[in-house]
Amino acid sequence: VGNKQPALFLRTLDGERSEHTPIWLMRQAGRYLPEYREVRERAGSFLNLCYSPAMAAEVTLQPIRRFGFDAAILFSDILVIPHALGQHVEFVEGEGPRLDPIVEGAALAKLSERPDPARLAAIYETVSRVRGRLGPETALIGFCGAPWTVASYMIAGKGTPDQAPIRLTAYRDGAFLSALVDRLVAASADYLVGQLEAGAQVVQIFESFAGALPPQLFERWSLEPIGRIATAVKAVKPDAKIIVFARGAAGGKLEALAQSGIADGVGLDWGVDLGFARERIQPRQVTQGNLDPLALVAGGEALDRGIDAILNTLGGKPHIFNLGHGILPETPIAHVERLVKRVRGN
Ligand code: CP3
Repeated sequence: VGNKQPALFLRTLDGERSEHTPIWLMRQAGRYLPEYREVRERAGSFLNLCYSPAMAAEVTLQPIRRFGFDAAILFSDILVIPHALGQHVEFVEGEGPRLDPIVEGAALAKLSERPDPARLAAIYETVSRVRGRLGPETALIGFCGAPWTVASYMIAGKGTPDQAPIRLTAYRDGAFLSALVDRLVAASADYLVGQLEAGAQVVQIFESFAGALPPQLFERWSLEPIGRIATAVKAVKPDAKIIVFARGAAGGKLEALAQSGIADGVGLDWGVDLGFARERIQPRQVTQGNLDPLALVAGGEALDRGIDAILNTLGGKPHIFNLGHGILPETPIAHVERLVKRVRGN
């Protein structure tokens, strides 16, 4: 492709509106793809897949080959940071992540100050392999979890329906939570810089549990730590672009994120009203999102209507098409093909 321009995805994130809307999907490498399931089986454990550059690079590239998305996202997980800090982490088949809970300062003191460089080196190696195999038209996204979300898993030891353990910790032992968050801010900033140095052009920070913060605590436990990560990353990599996906940050919380200027792009989950995003977010930020992953499972009319509503409402300003949360394992591949075609206008 004799295209000398930066990738469409990067131009859009830079605030340029083109005739095409770039598209990628959260969790685009995953169990809905038979070629992923094949490599996943070969890897044995999920963490082994994350730390094996050849296999992790392969699964990162699979959705690009199949669908030609505008961006690839590094295949890894937000929980490699607690793991690299020395916490026991495993992924139990059919149940999700299990960690040995860290519930007070004494347990935190046993973790490392800095993530184990050997573990993270394998991930940077994946990034550089992928970048070397992508064309210039495809951007590469690195990522980490936001401190509140990662700490939620570290404290509860697993996913919980309403993040009660970390919310109680925030009320009862703010000093401990603050120390844990500080540890994660430093580790995450280093980790994102490492990914950017290895060839990622953009990083996304996943705040999956923004919805579990009362609005008056959102600044303290979500925006402030994410802002410190962003400042540290940009001090070293001023050209890096940062997308923040704060799931459940509807209304005022999302507006606070947009107004903070922390992010270059604001992810919208599937609950965000499109009119609100156009009026209150787009004047300040490039938006990304927010098709309901279940509309993609359903396909047909529901899918077409969902796509058109997003393009019609948000397409007048720079917008990156995505789902409003990760793609579900039961998603038919034909529906993803239909989605990409329709977003590209063919
Ligand atoms: O988007 C991508 O394709 C990149 C890879 C990626 C994964 N996880 C791979 C994965 C990314 C960006 C993540 C982020 C992540 N991980 C988040 C934030 C986004 C969100 O979904 O809110 C969270 C909360 C996690 C923690 C996590 N990892 C959980 C809760 C689970 C189990 C749930 C499940 O779907 O099984 C994982 C495992 C995981 N991470 C899988 C994948 C492809 C499935 C595991 C497998 O293949 O066996």
